[in-house]
Amino acid sequence: MSADAWWKNGIVYQIYPRSFQDSDGDGIGDLAGIRRRLDHLVALGVDALWISPCYPSPMADFGYDISDYCDIDPRFGSLADFDALVADAHAKGLRVVMDFVPNHSSDRHPWFIQSRSARDDPKRDWYLWRDPAEGGGPPNNWRSNFGGPAWTFDAATGQYYCHSFLREQPDLNWRNPEVRAAMYEAMRFWLRRGVDGFRIDVLYHLVKDDEFRDNPPNPAFVEGQDNAHRVLPLYTSDRPEVQQIVIEMRKVADEFGDAKSSRVLIGELYLPLARLMAYYGEDANGVLQGVQLPFNFQLIAAEWQAPVIDRIVRDYEAALPAGAAPNWVLGNHDKPRIASRVGEAGARLAALLLLTLRGTPTLYYGDEIGMTDVPIPPDEVQDPFEKNEPGKGLGRDPQRTPMQWSGGAPNAGFTEGRPWLRLASDWRQRNVEAQWQDEASMLRLYQRLIALRRDEPALHEGRYEPIDAGTELLAYARVCRGRRLVVLLNFGAEAAVVSHELVPIRPRLLFSTAAAASKATDNSGSGPGFEPTVGWTLAPFEGVILSD
Ligand code: NOJ
Repeated sequence: MSADAWWKNGIVYQIYPRSFQDSDGDGIGDLAGIRRRLDHLVALGVDALWISPCYPSPMADFGYDISDYCDIDPRFGSLADFDALVADAHAKGLRVVMDFVPNHSSDRHPWFIQSRSARDDPKRDWYLWRDPAEGGGPPNNWRSNFGGPAWTFDAATGQYYCHSFLREQPDLNWRNPEVRAAMYEAMRFWLRRGVDGFRIDVLYHLVKDDEFRDNPPNPAFVEGQDNAHRVLPLYTSDRPEVQQIVIEMRKVADEFGDAKSSRVLIGELYLPLARLMAYYGEDANGVLQGVQLPFNFQLIAAEWQAPVIDRIVRDYEAALPAGAAPNWVLGNHDKPRIASRVGEAGARLAALLLLTLRGTPTLYYGDEIGMTDVPIPPDEVQDPFEKNEPGKGLGRDPQRTPMQWSGGAPNAGFTEGRPWLRLASDWRQRNVEAQWQDEASMLRLYQRLIALRRDEPALHEGRYEPIDAGTELLAYARVCRGRRLVVLLNFGAEAAVVSHELVPIRPRLLFSTAAAASKATDNSGSGPGFEPTVGWTLAPFEGVILSD
């Protein structure tokens, strides 16, 4: 690997801790469970794990409602378990990225309990409190992202408090310097314990309009959609003042580590391209002082068509500030799984895409074995989003089901108790153990691709060159120090011929999603699909990497 900071060339693996591995039979995954499964991550070949929140929490939003920023929830273990996990991970060459949730705490956090106790409490201004509107009702039209107004009335003190998500998740007041100082101390608490960075929850939400102006109505709103979309989040997200906070957070991270082992900040940002770029924090001298990786979610939302993806990649590459590290994501705990969105064959192609584009890839647990969304019957629903806005397909339980480790053990080896969410019905066939045995499996495909990405500088640090290849094909090259690899992806259900002008003169097949399926990765010279005067033939949904 190169001398760059680890997060530039590394691969991040997201763990939803409730669902990864239970070690004590309560049906909920925990830190000791993750620790037991580190060898899976080593075998897969990833570089870092990001753990969704494991702080003390009443679990109204399954850990995204934090009641203590400097401890571990007993359901997940203890600080000692956390330290042991970090030590083991580091010993195995894995980095650990913590989830950080600065926009809101739990309503059970002592800060909020104090804040709501009286209007003149010193902590009152740590949260966003407003008088009712003239004539009563919420102070303005802001909507919660989880349905209903973003305001809840506190009868005891006669004011409303603001919450961008559940009423159990009151928004902190980031204009208050005391709040900033306390949150930066919380970051230092974990950085001192050795964490390698943070994924920062809804970073773009931190600051709200200081005049509390109404958001404008959304002309594109369609009945049946997520209620939050009734208005445009003009005054509630991506406010200019958030940029200063981003810079301050980066300074905190930079107090720790050196250039190579620098601590990374990964911002959760669902924003249009130009606004996303702002979070790299490029200053007038071209210095990037923002988050190193503003999450690029475009592949999650994209229509799965070659020209669409081609445009996305070209535009993203063109928009990046000089020296900025790109990144790509296929899925996470909030969005439908890739294998459900594009099917099994499409998911193999997506893996090739994710691992050959320029930039840090983030994998969502279970995607490496092709896990799909699991339908959850109404009486088993856990997710508060689905409970608040039922039947709109917004629920996130389907993509959070337990990891499928083994076909022979109860509950796929996830727990000896009763899993908090049901398992996928296919767990006896689709599981880690079975897929290690099967050369053609999704897991083997991921493992081989990751190994190739690690071995080939062109793939982990080479530049990206677009190639025009027609409507069913996506093509690009990755180039590094004279080595040029061509990646061809056939998005169509028909075989496709790629003109010989677009492929290397004497192409060598380095990797094929189909060859992986039939065991025969051909490294012997010209590949089976090549005719010098015609070109390279790709099977339906096949993707390949060719070299000279
Ligand atoms: C984004 C997180 O990814 C999501 O799971 C959570 O519900 C909201 N932020 C609120 O914290």
